[in-house]
Amino acid sequence: MQPCRLAAKQSSAGHPGSEPVHLLPEEERVLAGEYGETRQKMMEILVALGKVFCADRLVPIRSAQVSGASYKTIGEAGLEWLSGLDARVSVPTVLNPVGMDRAAWREMGISSAFARKQEEVIAAYSRLGIRLECTCTPYYIYQTRFGDHIAWSESSAVSYANSVIGARTNREGGPGALASAIIGKTPEYGLHLVGERRPQVHISVEGEGPHEDIAFYGALGYLAGKLAGNRIPFFSGIRPRRDRLKALGAAMAASGAVALYHVDGITPEARIFSYDVTDLENIPVTARDIAALWSDITVDAVALGCPHCSPEELSVIAGLLSGKRVKIPLYVFSARKVIEVSRDAVASIERSGARVYADTCMVVSPAMEQFGAIMVNSGKAFSYVPDMCGAAVRIGTTEECIAVATGSQGA
Ligand code: F3S
Repeated sequence: MQPCRLAAKQSSAGHPGSEPVHLLPEEERVLAGEYGETRQKMMEILVALGKVFCADRLVPIRSAQVSGASYKTIGEAGLEWLSGLDARVSVPTVLNPVGMDRAAWREMGISSAFARKQEEVIAAYSRLGIRLECTCTPYYIYQTRFGDHIAWSESSAVSYANSVIGARTNREGGPGALASAIIGKTPEYGLHLVGERRPQVHISVEGEGPHEDIAFYGALGYLAGKLAGNRIPFFSGIRPRRDRLKALGAAMAASGAVALYHVDGITPEARIFSYDVTDLENIPVTARDIAALWSDITVDAVALGCPHCSPEELSVIAGLLSGKRVKIPLYVFSARKVIEVSRDAVASIERSGARVYADTCMVVSPAMEQFGAIMVNSGKAFSYVPDMCGAAVRIGTTEECIAVATGSQGA
């Protein structure tokens, strides 16, 4: 998203970029420090964002989701900043995955030094009133509705909320989402405005592919994110169900900066607004382009659950593992509440020797750094694992991942 002041400079017609954010009297009092220093700081963040992006006003939000939760990513500086805050969130707010399963960190091979620091980060968020769900799929736990204004920051959750649910959120940074959570409002700009949610590029998917597997959509998203950059894509030629949409959006948010997409006849706004895309740039992506991402490199671990697995995905993995034993480590990641309602599937997965972990994921946990090459069924993990885990990465369908983990296909 382009800051509007920059747009104003570039536009000969000008732009209302010099207008301040109009605050209500109560908001002015928060900004003046009448409700404490932390709330004042948080309001300053929102007003600064609003000015940069030419928001007219702040809008109330129904929920927030805050990233910057793993000690691996925020480090000591982030912990220090968080520890100095003194306020409570004013809307339901959940936390992104942290660097370890809070109950099984020893089993994951996490050092006690890291675990201590991670718990300090969690305690700092808890003092602010944030719910410690630690997931990038809060939509499985809390209801979010079409048209809700929200302030979420984990990129795959943002994409899902905007595209699949039709809620409205910009891709907030961690501090922006936290500021919105504490104030209960967010600047009204970008994807909060219906007029800013129209498609900007048409991606037509051509040819036959393994359309029933989430890895196909992850790989498509990986390619589409690179092609779309920060534009809003409109897809034709695919008919994904919800888990596939989740995989598509997560990958595009990782390889590009896509925070909203539409799928012809499938996503809510594409159904409501019947967008005419004939004037948009059309970029074809073929099944052959997608298949070219597959490789047969040797891996020493398999990781599933990026974004965190739904109950249905856990059932599919359990079914594929039934009666088998894993030969190399297989990790499955999901939200703790989803794991709690999927006890049978989780028990069945773990009978194979695989492990199901909550609160964390393959990217934000240091546990995966011990491996040289990791196989995933996720386009987002495919994008992030090399840099975040220092490992080579291979993508495959869920079935291929299980086959590799159990030794029925070459690792
Ligand atoms: Fe979620 Fe971690 Fe993937 S936060 S989207 S599982 S990188």
